[in-house]
Amino acid sequence: MRVSLRGRALRGDFVHAPVRGDIEVLRDHVIRVGEDGMIASVRPVADGVPEGTVQMPAGHLVLPGFVDLHIHAPQYPQLGLALDEPLEVWLGKYTFPLESKYADLDFAREAYGTLVRDLLAGGTTTALYFATVHREATQLLAEICLEQGQRGLVGKVVMDNHETSPDYYRDETAADAVADTRAVIDHIRALPGNDRVLPVVTPRFIPSCTDEALAGLGALARECGCHVQTHCSESDWAHGYALERYGHTDTAALDGFGLLTRKTVLAHSVFLTDPDMAMVREAGAGVAHCALSNMYFANAVFPLRRALEKDVHVGLGTDISGGPSSSMFEACRTTVQASRLLETGVDPNVPRETRGHSGATIDMKTAFHLATVGGGKALELPVGIFRPGFHFDAIVVD
Ligand code: GUN
Ligand code: FE
Repeated sequence: MRVSLRGRALRGDFVHAPVRGDIEVLRDHVIRVGEDGMIASVRPVADGVPEGTVQMPAGHLVLPGFVDLHIHAPQYPQLGLALDEPLEVWLGKYTFPLESKYADLDFAREAYGTLVRDLLAGGTTTALYFATVHREATQLLAEICLEQGQRGLVGKVVMDNHETSPDYYRDETAADAVADTRAVIDHIRALPGNDRVLPVVTPRFIPSCTDEALAGLGALARECGCHVQTHCSESDWAHGYALERYGHTDTAALDGFGLLTRKTVLAHSVFLTDPDMAMVREAGAGVAHCALSNMYFANAVFPLRRALEKDVHVGLGTDISGGPSSSMFEACRTTVQASRLLETGVDPNVPRETRGHSGATIDMKTAFHLATVGGGKALELPVGIFRPGFHFDAIVVD
């Protein structure tokens, strides 16, 4: 069930993680919400309870809604399926055929409607979505987010490289790709009553795009001031592809095309070098850590602790359907679990002293912080904390 508390107040126990590594419990507090949906005040009950305040039942906790910082909306129908191939095979064998079906708007409406409803029920109140190459179906996803009340950031996927994208599923030219992206941005920004859905410039990843498209999208992102999302250095293959094409990394190439900005989110980024991390930090860009998906496609564990120590913005993503769970609770758990494998190492034939990487462990409090506040920071959106000036995007756990 979804309720709006605009112009009202809520009394109960609130739990959030404004500081990384810590959980703050606001027992028996009152949060007043403005007509604009923003938090107006957070006070203990002793300071007074306004008339008409909604009272949470005992034993219920109010948490900030989750931010899923990387999710492929069209891949929901194959959630939990088709994970028997490496990334570069999986795309052509399963994923492009599925995504191509979204040319059919009836199919798209049904699939996207189900996805957004399920995500909200699971606690994802903000999602940074890859849609498909189709202009109309991408616009439909934005409209469904708005209708259902989800803070959606939605991107038309660009893939115009004929060498890596099939005839039946691609942008015909770089100019088409940029023009369609611009049309989607304009459409989303003009949606009546749109106070929460944002457009995103979305080159799928470097192998899918020509230099002309990447340069055009970089210029468009600057002109429109939009968010940007892409996959970066996800696997040995993807990382190696950019090195071969450019003689430098994905991160450096994206930066060269103007695609590394304060509002850029790089999915995975498992193979970032130290100079790459410094570039990401310098740009103020963020990383969407997708621990579960990385177990299938990445060939390695993202050094999350290293990224945090370097002050890189990091949030968590499900990466549906590379990650076979739509739950951000699960994303928190797998973040913790993967970090422990990185810490200890995995090969019993290697002596304990050299098996792992000490200092890699992430605890659940940190994972919860990243899944809420971390995602909000990466997107430069005031969500994830119960504090005046933040959106009151919240879930109730019974
Ligand atoms: N790289 C390019 N496209 C994709 C995708 O759909 N999923 C994942 N995990 N990686 C990608
Ligand atoms: Fe992905």
